[in-house]
Formats: sequence, structure tokens, C-alpha cells
Amino acid sequence: MIYNYWKRIALIILLIAFVIPLNGFSQNPLFIPDTISGTVFNLSVQTGSKQFIGTNNTPTFGYNGSFLGPTLLINKGDSITLNVTNNLGQATTVHWHGFHVSPMNDGGPHQIINPGATWSPAFKIRNEAATFWYHPHGEGKTEIQISKGLAGMIIVRDTIEANYVLPRRYGIDDFPLIVQSKAFDVLYQFATATHEDSIIMVNGTIDPYLQVPRQVVRLRLLNGSADRTYSFGLSDNSNFYLIGSDGGLLSQPYSTNRVRLSTGERAEILVDFSTYVSGSQLYLKSYASELSKGIIGADSVGTNSIVIMEGYYSNPLNGADFNVLRFDVTPTTSSPVTTIPSAFAPKIPLSESSMDVERSVHFSADTITSGNQGFVDGPFLMNETPFNMDSINIVTYLNDIEIWTLTNSTMVAHPFHIHDIEFYVLDINGNPPPTEYSGLKDVILVKPNDTVRFITQFTTFSDPVVPYMFHCHLLHHEDDGMMGTFLVIDPETIGIDEKINDVSVSVFPNPGRNNIRISLNGFYANERTYLNVRDALGRTVFSESIESSDHLINVSKWSTGIYIISLKQNNYIIHKKIIIEK
Ligand code: C2O
Ligand code: CU
Repeated sequence: MIYNYWKRIALIILLIAFVIPLNGFSQNPLFIPDTISGTVFNLSVQTGSKQFIGTNNTPTFGYNGSFLGPTLLINKGDSITLNVTNNLGQATTVHWHGFHVSPMNDGGPHQIINPGATWSPAFKIRNEAATFWYHPHGEGKTEIQISKGLAGMIIVRDTIEANYVLPRRYGIDDFPLIVQSKAFDVLYQFATATHEDSIIMVNGTIDPYLQVPRQVVRLRLLNGSADRTYSFGLSDNSNFYLIGSDGGLLSQPYSTNRVRLSTGERAEILVDFSTYVSGSQLYLKSYASELSKGIIGADSVGTNSIVIMEGYYSNPLNGADFNVLRFDVTPTTSSPVTTIPSAFAPKIPLSESSMDVERSVHFSADTITSGNQGFVDGPFLMNETPFNMDSINIVTYLNDIEIWTLTNSTMVAHPFHIHDIEFYVLDINGNPPPTEYSGLKDVILVKPNDTVRFITQFTTFSDPVVPYMFHCHLLHHEDDGMMGTFLVIDPETIGIDEKINDVSVSVFPNPGRNNIRISLNGFYANERTYLNVRDALGRTVFSESIESSDHLINVSKWSTGIYIISLKQNNYIIHKKIIIEK
């Protein structure tokens, strides 16, 4: 409490000393991250230091630099390798947010990169042209690592997008805008799990300005904040064109004056600066006064006024309309884009009648931990279950078309994100989705009491052991366990059917050291059984076919750790976790 008191005084002094004089806004040229392209991407995750507030040094993290990371330019269809070397001095992971890749390449909490180690996922780019990003996804460490600077943009290009007349000269008429709100503590370090994030940065630049040519310019907006939602618009309220959402282009440009982005979401917009004279200035703003109650960033969160969120109501950004970036309009470049395409390839959602499985995810407050119905700071749960690295919450089948219903009975809006797949929103509270949600999505904001349905198909990748994640993209909620796992299983290759309930496997001793005995109960005696053992990272370490229902394996040379034993016979498979101890 005493600490909090002094922290608050210090913050007020900070605000007076630094933020108020910056009312003139925009003295810093917007930083544009470097790009890397090709098919081999080397990323060093490293520590650094940067002066954000006066001449005070703030410790930071970055990819190939002290803060944020290079923009990766990748072509659809390319087979790429990413060599991620961890020089942080602490474990991290790197998740390719939005990418359709196998669970082993996904960079979720299961693909830990230890200090000093290099992780080299290699995969083919299957997503269509769109704006993605990469960031850490470690168990309980996502917020602090992203807040200290670990985030970078990915631009995927493809031949379809290349056929439209669109700005795509990076840093000239096509700009990355990674928008983040940050909180600093009294020592000018990044603070987490706080609602005092009153400093807005774009690409790590506070009070930025950007020179934009007098022509059609493309802005790739990414909300990389810990929990804040923005309602972006121009300061003169004029319209711009939303052309793409998380997973690529919409069916056609959508003329609007607002685009709302919750954490993790992306939007590509075209602004026609030819309607302004050279030398004029305007702002990209967030009209947060227009955000509805319950959305972090709005004027109020929670349905009753006695609910107090530490720091929330004193944060000058909440519920306010504030500047994000100043545009300085400059003369037209050579070969400018001057037109807005009339249409793109149609985006057609899967049909509801093709559905194989329906399931639901319910967001609720963890009332056992909090002991309080009225709180709005969590922890929150998905399907009443806190995240556990070692458990599987949902099993899906390869190529199944599923409809998921998301419901939120908390007082806070939660941006739901799912790995592996992209989805189409079917409806929100029974109404067809607004145009901004008509394209491929991987994040959707679910407001208090909302019901959102989406449709998707689990294609290409299956793995009986390593799961993908679905979670709230409010980083603090994710770290606190508002996350679940799902497996995608291929019934053709590993075979699963209802008989799984009639068979069982016992392993003895477990933990094991020298020899372990595997006994199969309920397996057909005269059928061949396949034994496969994977380590905790999903790598096969041992496999053989076994003939008898009682089988010994020598594990004396195996290293200490957790292993998953899978036994497959005919059309069923059963998994068992074993521990080897030395
Ligand atoms: Cu942007 Cu699971 O994350
Ligand atoms: Cu949440």
C-alpha cells in the first residue's frame, strides 16, 4: 500500500514532468522497423536499453535490436526456416500469430527456447497475403516479455494480392503501425498487470509523426498492447478504406471512419492523402470515448460503479479521444497509387450446413480464486478450467468443420484468439457480423454477455500429442490461465474410435528408471500393436511394433523427463504419460 502510494505520487510527477510538456505532440519521427526477407530468417532475442522518458534508461527486450523486431517479408508458398537464438538470459518462445503451421512449429508454451539455445522451425507459408505478427508465448511470461519489447510484424504477400493496384512499397506508401500502450514504474521500467498504461507508442516511438505522400497510402495497424482496445479514426473524421483484417483482404474495400482493434487484431487501411494539400497535418486518433462499457480502454469497465480497477479510472487514456500518430502530408512520390480497388476476391464463409461438430467456449470469472463476484481483474477462465500445460481441453479431428460458440458472462470484454486456423464470424448475438468482421479472423472481441459464433475447418496438420492454444489475448488474462489447449487428430493415420473406452494401458513402474512394463488391456490379442514414444517436445524418441499384451522396454538410456507413450492398434490409439527419473 505504502509502495502503491509512492508509486502513484511518482507517476503523477512523471506525468507532470514529461507528458504534459509533450502536449505539443509529435516531435519524434516514427521509427520504421527494418525488414528481412528471403527464406531464412535469423532472429536473435536479446536484451537492451532505450531512453523513452527523458534521459532515463529503460531495460528492454528486442529481436535483432533493443526494442521490437524487424518486419519479416514472406511470400505465400515459400518454405522458410526461422533460426531463433535466445540471448535473453531467460526462457522464451516465439509464436507466429495467425500462421497455419503444425503445433511443433507454432511457438506456443510447449516450444520453449532455453537461454543460449536456437530453435529452428521450418515450414511452408500457407496463409494468404495479410499482416501477421510474432511475439513470445511462454507460460505466464507473455505480458512481461511483450511489454519489454518482444513483438514484430510479418507481412505475407501472394500473387492474388499482387494483382491489385495497392500501395506496397514498405516505408514509402505502405507502413507498419504497431500500436502499444505502456506503463512505466518509478524506475522507468516497464510495468505489467497494471491499468496505468498511459503512454502510447507506435513502433516504439512516443509522440510520433510520419511523413505521408499525397496519394493513397496503406497503413497496417497492429494492436500489440497488453490489454487496451482502440477505436481508430482520423482527426477530421473523414472516411478511409478498410481493405483487410487479420487473415487477409476483405471481399471489397469498406469505406468507414472507424476501425476498432482489440489486442492481437490487425487491420489494413487505405487513406487517400491526395485530398489534403501538401504541408497539412492530421492525426490518427483513438476515439476511445466511443468504446462500449466493459472494453478495456473505455470509460468504464464492470457493470457496477463500486468495482474498482486499480489505476483504471485515473488513467487519462481511458474513455478519452487521444492522438496516436501525426501525419505530415508531403508531395506525391513517383508512380503513386491514386485509386482504390473496387473489389477483391470474394470471401465466402464455409456453409453452416457443412458443420461436423459444434462446441462452445464460455468465459467466466474464477470465483474460487477471487472469492468475489464483483471483480473485473480476473483471474478468468475458459470453460471453467484454468490453463494447464499438460492437459488437453479439446480434441478436434482433422478436416472437421466446426462451429464454435463463444459466450462471456464476465464484466470485461475478452479478445478470443485461436491458433492454427482462421475463422469466419457467423453471427454476434444472432446478427450477421459487421463488415469489418466479414473476412478471415483469428481474434474476435467478445463483449460482456455477447454470444459470438464462428465457423472454421481444422486442416493440414494433426498431432496426437502436441496441442495448439486458444486463449484470451489480454496478456494478463492469458498469463493468469485464461487459455486452453486443443489437439487436432487425424483418425486416418492414428485411428480413433469409440472403443477407446474399452481399452487401457498400464505402465509400471511410473516413474521408471531401467525397465518399464507396458500392459495392454482390451487390445485384440492377435493384432499388431504399434508403440510410439515422444518426448515433451513431441519428438519421437522410440517406436516399435509389439506382439504381446505384456511388453518390457529398456529405458535406462533415456534422459530424465516426461514422455508420452502412444499405442495404436487397428482403429484406436491410447496415450499414456510416463516419467523417467534418473
Ligand atoms: Cu498472439 Cu496465442 O497469441
Ligand atoms: Cu480476458
